[in-house]
Amino acid sequence: MTENKQGSEAVTNGGKTANVALTSSTMPVSKDELNAWSTPGSAAFDFRSDTVTSPTAAMLFATKHCTLQDDVFQEDPTTNSLEAYIADMTGKEAGLFVISGTMGNQLSIRTALGGPPHSVLADARSHVYGWEAGGIASLSGALALPVTPGNGHHLTLSDVKKHAVTSTDTHFCPTRLISLENTLAGTILPLKDCQELSQWAHAQNPTIHMHLDGARLWEAVAAGAGSLKEYCACFDSVTMCFSKGLGAPIGSIIISSRPFVERARHIRKGLGGGLRQAGVVTASARIGVDETFLGNKLSATHQRAMETANMWQEKGGNLTQATETNMVWLDLEAAGCSREEFVEAGVKEGVRLMGGRVVVHYQVSEEAVERLGRVMDAVLSAYSKEHEIKNGVKEDAREVTKPEME
Ligand SMILES: Cc1ncc(COP(=O)(O)O)c(C=O)c1O
Repeated sequence: MTENKQGSEAVTNGGKTANVALTSSTMPVSKDELNAWSTPGSAAFDFRSDTVTSPTAAMLFATKHCTLQDDVFQEDPTTNSLEAYIADMTGKEAGLFVISGTMGNQLSIRTALGGPPHSVLADARSHVYGWEAGGIASLSGALALPVTPGNGHHLTLSDVKKHAVTSTDTHFCPTRLISLENTLAGTILPLKDCQELSQWAHAQNPTIHMHLDGARLWEAVAAGAGSLKEYCACFDSVTMCFSKGLGAPIGSIIISSRPFVERARHIRKGLGGGLRQAGVVTASARIGVDETFLGNKLSATHQRAMETANMWQEKGGNLTQATETNMVWLDLEAAGCSREEFVEAGVKEGVRLMGGRVVVHYQVSEEAVERLGRVMDAVLSAYSKEHEIKNGVKEDAREVTKPEME
């Protein structure tokens, strides 16, 4: 391609040459160019989720330079190399790019299971159980066994032993798969528990498949809980997302053994998930891994999340759970504030909120945290003022809410 002075360029294709107008879609992009990809934009003021992260100029640059071969034929170098790269990084044989985390989880479950009767044991709060449109039932014909952790934090071997069906009694529905989630609502599943659970599941006859919804496994690793390889060694299949805290626009990956990935690829095709020129999305995923995860941006978000949690507590607020990675859980109920009031207070300060869950991602700006501080002031002072009027004396909001929380 050669650019000429008339704002168009000569494009040669199949021996023919044409002049193409230089519009934003045909303009060559450099890493320094300013456009919608250059800044986080509204993501800098958005605490609703880490899925709102905006793809970067480096991602656009990588997309421009990606290969454009057919991934259903497994001929696309950008996609093949991403799959091999993540498999190597996690100590697994093979990887399969999928369009979403939900597809990664449900496809893994479908791939692992034979036919009914079979059950899938998962944390009662997990995404695979409650947030994937009933896919365990509709796609795998399996009974879901939701289990509430006895320790209130994460599933342990004792929870699983209590609820998994290992009996051959024909009344029951045998557990063939255990699905864990790390991080879950921002909390870390300790490596030791994964190892114990894995050892037990693999010692059963027949062995129980261990799946990890590792949409945010990157966060647990960045927090120092264990390495990718250590965690992945506990599981037969793992889903990891590129489109959350890593900032890529689209996509997740399943990593597992080669035969498992081959079967998953077959089932993915049947679900309409076979992609053609997949390089346009896998190129960005690679940048997310290299620049956000390996570039060490996640631990800074954990620090910022911790500061946000401290700010709320210093102002008199309570948390519903401790901050371990990038999510902060504000106890709005104890602060006498409804979800809607909190969201509305955010709108007034120009920050986007969804409720008591505040998600910090690497594109959240310092100014956004300052504005969030003002939102906190507004809701907490409204609460203490109301209390002052009710009781005729000024009371500390935290002291007042304590009994309600017990
Ligand atoms: C823990 C977890 N797993 C899986 C998913 C599903 O990812 P997707 O929205 O890409 O389907 C999500 C989505 O937020 C999630 O939080």
